[in-house]
Amino acid sequence: MKINIVGTGYVGLISGLCFAEQGHDVLCIDSDAEKIEKLKHGDAPFFEPGLKEMLKETNAKFSVKGDECDVAICCVGTPDDDAKAVFDVAKANKDVKFFIVKSTVPVGTCKKIAAIITGEVISCPEFLRQGSAIEDTKKPHRIIAGVESEKGKDVISRLYEGRKIFFTDLNSSELIKYASNTFLATKISLINEFANYCEQVGANIKDVSKGVGLDPRIGEHFLEAGIGYGGSCLPKDVKALKGDFKILSAVHDVNEAQRLKILEKLGDLKGKKVAVLGLSFKPNTDDLREAPSTFIIEKLKTGGCDIRCYDPQAKHELNVYESPYKTAQGCDVVLFLTEWDEFKNLDLKKLRAQMKGDTLVDARNIFDYLKAREAGFTYLSLGRV
Ligand code: UDX
Repeated sequence: MKINIVGTGYVGLISGLCFAEQGHDVLCIDSDAEKIEKLKHGDAPFFEPGLKEMLKETNAKFSVKGDECDVAICCVGTPDDDAKAVFDVAKANKDVKFFIVKSTVPVGTCKKIAAIITGEVISCPEFLRQGSAIEDTKKPHRIIAGVESEKGKDVISRLYEGRKIFFTDLNSSELIKYASNTFLATKISLINEFANYCEQVGANIKDVSKGVGLDPRIGEHFLEAGIGYGGSCLPKDVKALKGDFKILSAVHDVNEAQRLKILEKLGDLKGKKVAVLGLSFKPNTDDLREAPSTFIIEKLKTGGCDIRCYDPQAKHELNVYESPYKTAQGCDVVLFLTEWDEFKNLDLKKLRAQMKGDTLVDARNIFDYLKAREAGFTYLSLGRV
């Protein structure tokens, strides 16, 4: 099929590369001319495992302008759940036979877009996760498609041959995306509240999560307690619905408070040297959007700390150190904020030897607390006593 993909963010670029790999004739379009030039030269605009390699081998083309196509797939960003950019793309593609909306849009948007497009509008929300975006796109757990005709079903079946597809109506498809993300956020806020409760009653959240997750009705995933959810999706989608859902208002409040919980344990840090290890909102991405680290760093700054940072991928104005050990040199406190694999294998004795102080704050419960104490640290984590 001849496919125009509009928007080359995580969803658009990775979907485009995967459709091209399947043998479709793909044109990836973005209004950012500089980004398109880079893509034409095989340069990845963001860090995502496997992306560089895919860009080297792809047959997909890149342009600032669309071309004639069978299907236009809209993947532009919708910050604050404002669908204006999606309507603009629809207006520019009004004569297309099939207009597929992958961007997350408020319920009812596709029905409104149907009035603009001469062909059929299809809702096909994207569920890929940053950090495993390529794998998620190639082997999705499910494809959700809101369609209004057999021809629409046929287009989706051809695009996602061999995948598990659930067909529904346009509004339900749009809502499944919000329901999924807010469900995940709720799971995280609830387990974080349990982590805080563990500290009050003397329990271990790691074991509580494991025990709870053994029930298949609950499931083992998304039960990692820590400093709350970040990124470009979960916070945005919870905010979009929290006015209508009492439970989501609480999920949001718990998440905001959770980001700073770890600092309450440290007390006054004025004049202290603090090494922040891990900045991205989760491992395997360089994305800092709504990353808990950005809120924590701001708080540390206003508290008068001398901060230095390190992250394997994320760029930050303070991120000038080349290794965790160098970052920790002469510091009073090390603060682990993202659970990168690189951190899991650190030599804790060596890390401790670099430091002036002995405080290790493990905001993602990465380390075995006995090993951290053996290495000479005063070890603080969440939900473990
Ligand atoms: C999310 C959805 O998972 C994905 O389906 C959707 O398409 C986009 O939004 P993503 O933003 O890439 O994906 O990240 P995700 O893996 O969901 O993690 C979100 C946040 O929750 C991260 O900050 C992560 O650290 C946090 N998290 C996740 C926890 O704190 N605990 C967990 O157990 C799991």
